Amino acid sequence: MTAEARVAERSREPIWGSARRLVVVSNRVAALGHRKPDSGGLAVAIHSALSQSGGMWFGWSGEVTETPASSPKVRSEGRISVAALDLSPADLSAYYVGFSNRALWPIFHFRSSLVEFSRENLDGYLRVNGIFARALAPLLREEDLVWVHDYHLIPLGQELRRLGRLQPIGFFLHTPFPPAELFRVLPNHLDLARALCAYDLVGFQTASDLHAFRDYLLRCARAEDLGKGALSAFGRVVRGGVFPIGIDVATVATQAAEADDSRHMRRLRQSLRERALMIGVDRLDYSKGLLARFEAYGHLLEAHRETHDRIVFMQIAPPSRSEVPEYCAIRKSLEAAAGNINGRYAEFDWTPLRYLNKGFNHRVLTGFFRASRIGLVTPLRDGMNLVAKEYVASQDPADPGVLLLSSFAGAAHELGEAVLVNPYDTEDMAEAMRLGLEMPLGERRERWSAMMRVLAKNDIAAWRDGFLDALAATAENRG
Ligand code: G6P
Repeated sequence: MTAEARVAERSREPIWGSARRLVVVSNRVAALGHRKPDSGGLAVAIHSALSQSGGMWFGWSGEVTETPASSPKVRSEGRISVAALDLSPADLSAYYVGFSNRALWPIFHFRSSLVEFSRENLDGYLRVNGIFARALAPLLREEDLVWVHDYHLIPLGQELRRLGRLQPIGFFLHTPFPPAELFRVLPNHLDLARALCAYDLVGFQTASDLHAFRDYLLRCARAEDLGKGALSAFGRVVRGGVFPIGIDVATVATQAAEADDSRHMRRLRQSLRERALMIGVDRLDYSKGLLARFEAYGHLLEAHRETHDRIVFMQIAPPSRSEVPEYCAIRKSLEAAAGNINGRYAEFDWTPLRYLNKGFNHRVLTGFFRASRIGLVTPLRDGMNLVAKEYVASQDPADPGVLLLSSFAGAAHELGEAVLVNPYDTEDMAEAMRLGLEMPLGERRERWSAMMRVLAKNDIAAWRDGFLDALAATAENRG
């Protein structure tokens, strides 16, 4: 490292890091050291944030056992120590499948008709949050900064407060926060809001999410606006802020460039011949807009015969949350839709749609992104969507591809230079696909460079340090 680089590095040093240990809590902790396909952006992002700063990561081990131990199994890898608890089948079913993924997930993605609320599931949700808090509390030191992630663990901060933990505790919501009228669909909305206010800082992906949260508190919980992002509600002061999650741009770009020369890539290129590749990579989730995407592709093939044999759409969709009935239903519908497209348009030497229900490791995916002329990220609603950012960072600067991005993904707040689409408008989406195929190199480069500047500025370190500096500052404000 040169002297100038060292000075620049020091001047970027975060405030929070000097005397504090970072403790991250999330439902899912990454399987460190395993080369398993990644199941979602959250674990990858947290792993990337923690591996730079070091700290403890606490959460569910991913294991289900009949009688789980009450204290976590601890293991270390590099600068991260992971403390993980197993869950019993009944707890997992009520807390994760039931309340988190059948009540909170759909309402946080604006799908009130999919909400399945039950007292039994809610009890399980609260019970597991209590179990997590009791296992975590003895591991905490006074100077720790505790950072809790996502909708599974909303009550955790409140539970830690009950156990007398006084240090700064922050919460970051990776999903959208719904408008007040939707949030109120949950019978326990006030309790959830009260639990959120037990945190010192609540972070959101976008300004719209923060606005919805503040609007709910002001109108439905008689909160008082204290200015500078602070609200007084339920007898506490809570701060809200916007911290768009980012990626480790340099690492993704390097991985993609290296993957270019791999066996997977050689096989892919051989199979494509000279055809343009359009790619989608999403967990198999109804929020991702996959059916609408398939429909738009069908429309493109129907309306633009000249695209036949010139394009291949590869949708990678690893199954997710298969215990949840709504996820089984979407899987069936997608199988039928994929079958229809290929049945209708395939030729003996061209399959228009490759639909894969399996995951690939991160390295391989970045290579696939780089080889794709179009990246499709068209959710009906999404907190951020890191695939959008990874697609951009994986591109070859000399010949970058085109990102088609739903305006309902959090990423659209930052990536205005993508081709923005409305996933509810089939014709518009098909037209955007055609545009992506035809877009001249000059325009592709301009759009790509503009997006890369945003990604570099709002990267994973900026997300982590921005949130944690704001969280550490809440302690100073308290005095
Ligand atoms: C989304 C959620 C995360 C979750 C991930 C994977 O990104 O915001 O909290 O971990 O999906 O879902 P899963 O249910 O497999 O953990």
